[in-house]
Parts: sequence; C-alpha cells; structure tokens
Amino acid sequence: MHRIKFTIITLFPEALRPYLNSSMLFKAQERGIISIEYSNLRDFGLGPHKSVDDTPYGGGDGMLLRCEPVFEAIESIKSIHPDAEVILPTPVGQTWSQHLVKQFSGVDFHNPDSPFVTKHYIILCPHYEGYDERIMQIVDYPISLGDYVLTGGELPALIIIDSITRLLPGVLGGTTSAAIESFSEGDNLEYPQYTKPAEFRGMNVPEVLLSGNHGKIAEWRREQSQLRTAARASHSKGCSE
Ligand code: ADE
Repeated sequence: MHRIKFTIITLFPEALRPYLNSSMLFKAQERGIISIEYSNLRDFGLGPHKSVDDTPYGGGDGMLLRCEPVFEAIESIKSIHPDAEVILPTPVGQTWSQHLVKQFSGVDFHNPDSPFVTKHYIILCPHYEGYDERIMQIVDYPISLGDYVLTGGELPALIIIDSITRLLPGVLGGTTSAAIESFSEGDNLEYPQYTKPAEFRGMNVPEVLLSGNHGKIAEWRREQSQLRTAARASHSKGCSE
C-alpha cells in the first residue's frame, strides 16, 4: 500500500517525467512508498481544439485557465478517490516550508513506528498567465513556493513531491524517520558537513570533527546549526529592509 499517491494534472507531463523517474523519487515509486499518476488537462479541453484557456473578462494580457476543464479533471479523479485533496501551486498561496512538508507527509515524527495514514494529493499545475479565480473553490491548499513568479505549476509540483517524499520512511537509505527529522535539527538549519580528504587545497576540515569526541562533535554541530540559522534570519531581514 502506498503511503502517498500524487496525481498531477498538467498540460506538460513530459516536463515532469524525467525528474520524477530519476534517483530517489524513482526508488520511492519502485519501493511502493509513493505512486505518481498524470492526468492530461488537454483531455478535458473544450471543442475540437481541446481548448483549456481564454482571455480575461475586463481585458488584460494573456490567457487564463478556464474552469470547465479543471473542474472536470478534478471531479473525474475524485469520483474514484473521494478523499483526494487538491493542491494548487500559486504565488498567492501559503508559503511552502519544512513545517508544511512534515504536515503533508502524514508521518508522526514523535512516534515513527505508529501505523501510517495513506494520503492522496492532486496537484493542479496552472499554465498561461493565470487561472479563473473560481478554480479556488475546488482547491484545498493554495501553495506558493516563494516571492517570485514562475511560468507554470510544474516546477512547484516537483518541489512539493520531492520535499514530502524524502521524509517518508524507507526513502533515504537506511535512515529512520526520527533520524531524518534530525537532519534539520528541529527548526534550525543543518550544520556544515565534511567528507574526505581532511585537507583540500589548503582548506581544512574543522579539528573537532576529527577528534573522535562525540560529545564535543554534537556540541559543535548544535552551535553551528544555531549560528547558521541566526545568520540566515539576519540576512533575510536585511533583504526585506
Ligand atoms: N506559479 C507561479 N509562480 C509560483 C510560485 N512562486 N509558487 C507557486 N506556484 C507558482
């Protein structure tokens, strides 16, 4: 039984497949942890040209996704999977964060061995200049990837699927969900990490990591994690001033 099923409604499934069929996301599907299906919005298009967009009322540039193909695509999935929830990538949505990723993963990080819940997310990828606002009525979670505007919802869909999937037990090699959570040290950023060689072009791995003293190493990592988090907070503040 899959933990999470994603159905992606898109006009460009060929833009998504190469990434989703590579590396960890491929393995996660092979191991039956997630499943990914595509629904081509064009199949629900109107008229002989299977049109999915039109010009905005009131004037303005560009084309907007029409309601009919979107509602029909979602309703055809929901007629088989009534519990599926709809995610809409949009710049006006709630900002995607690790906190939300954990919530959407359905993993109980305090009790990783508890029986898991299965989830089904429909990700609707808009394209063109935008969408008819009435589409919001059929959306459960409008999600923004950040304060910038992309040409469509495909990249956000990849990021949403990737960030959720890496938290699911069995996806990252050999790590338990509890260990995965410690990757991000609670709400702090991860500490810096190093691998061999100990010296590269005059740059040395911090001495403490070579010391074998696990107490000192843990303390150093905690400190570094806090320093990084504070540095990023002051950087973001500087950027918004
Ligand atoms: N579609 C266009 N821009 C986007 C953004 N920043 N986040 C999510 N979806 C988008």
